[in-house]
Amino acid sequence: MLMHEFPEGFLWGAATSAYQIEGAWNEDGKGESVWDRYAHAPGRVNRGDTGDITCDHYHRMPADVALMKELGLKAYRFSIAWTRVLPDGAGPVNPKGLDFYDRLVDALCEAGIAPNATLDHWDFPQALQERGGWESRDSVFWFADYARIAFERLGDRVAMWATHNEPFVVASGYGNGPFAPGLADSAAGYRAVHSLNMAHGAAVEAFRAGGPTGSYPGRIGIVLDLHHIVPASGSEEDALACARALDHAQNVFLYPIFRGEYPASLMEWLGPLAPEIREGDLELIARPIDFLGMNHYFTQETRYSCRGGLFKLEQSFRSEPGMGTTDIGWGVNPGGISAVLSRIAPIVGDTPIYISENGCAMRDEPDSSGFVTDRGRVNYLRRHLIELREAIEAGAGVRGFFAWSLMDNFEWSYGYEPRFGLVRVDYPTEVRTPKLSARWYSDVIADNGLPE
Ligand code: GCO
Repeated sequence: MLMHEFPEGFLWGAATSAYQIEGAWNEDGKGESVWDRYAHAPGRVNRGDTGDITCDHYHRMPADVALMKELGLKAYRFSIAWTRVLPDGAGPVNPKGLDFYDRLVDALCEAGIAPNATLDHWDFPQALQERGGWESRDSVFWFADYARIAFERLGDRVAMWATHNEPFVVASGYGNGPFAPGLADSAAGYRAVHSLNMAHGAAVEAFRAGGPTGSYPGRIGIVLDLHHIVPASGSEEDALACARALDHAQNVFLYPIFRGEYPASLMEWLGPLAPEIREGDLELIARPIDFLGMNHYFTQETRYSCRGGLFKLEQSFRSEPGMGTTDIGWGVNPGGISAVLSRIAPIVGDTPIYISENGCAMRDEPDSSGFVTDRGRVNYLRRHLIELREAIEAGAGVRGFFAWSLMDNFEWSYGYEPRFGLVRVDYPTEVRTPKLSARWYSDVIADNGLPE
């Protein structure tokens, strides 16, 4: 059979995050996070949904790991809830919280699944939010201290660490996005960007310093949302708007991390809204990393608009003809994944890349046994993987792929309506049923590739 074969040792995995799947939001000493606070506030999340219980993974972890093993995953990307480990974000450690991740990492290792842990997947401690959050430069030290605690306890077994997940989205919760903490202040957004970048560097530095028993065997990097952004037309105005969109959403992290500088065009555009940068900040941010995680979902067309806010632009989704949109209206354009890989190649050089998230929300319709024949999701993943495989053949340094998501879960401001999982979760009973896409993905992993 002709195959789209992937390089030997390609790392196949699936991803989740703590707030989206764990539940047990206030159990065993866990503190409140900004997402607990935000989801509990009326009117913030679709239908008033919260992550209080979600997939109840906190209580079902061993069975969930068994399911991952059954699917043949080689790696599992999860996040650590900062407030489980440090209920107030700083100060005393909550041993029960840390124990949970210790058991998870042990269970993964026993199942032969490489643990890939993200330190910050948005659920920042509420107690630290009240002390200034990511706007405060103190957040750099808070984060590094928390990271050190996680490294010391789990660093002997965790294969891959990511500092932040999509810091752009975190910062947009300070700027103008529908995300916690729910502020609306562009200057605050950029102060948060700069602290997030520095906190990343400080965590990398703590990792390199090693623990009491020496250096850690794993690797460390960051996960950025790198969607494809194109000008809506050939006009110069749209080209400039597109450049601003890339600066704002992507280069503001890529440039300081890989080049030790913020994009000059962005700083100039921001003027007085730009964050204060002190001596040494950029050196800290640019500490070398071992890999870049790339989350990729869609392509956005960008056009100039005089009513388009700070950056004077508007965006809409672009789909490949015939591919339509996902259940939440995101355009499907598989070619976007290879386009982004070529665009970032000169910035990231030979740093290995992992596709740390890719997947889609589809209108799933379970049959009477709970099985979902999600051909749309299979097609989405299949088309993106074929593009990815071609990009690798053309030289892209991609070493692995993580499907988003292992299972249906709490999709932030959208609540539970969109379903992104390879595995269906029936929330009232918490029964997990692998969908067609899960079976299909198992075969891809087993074959290290896809049939033509
Ligand atoms: C994201 C996230 C996930 C989302 C997924 C689908 O980083 O946006 O890492 O938490 O659920 O992207 O929107």
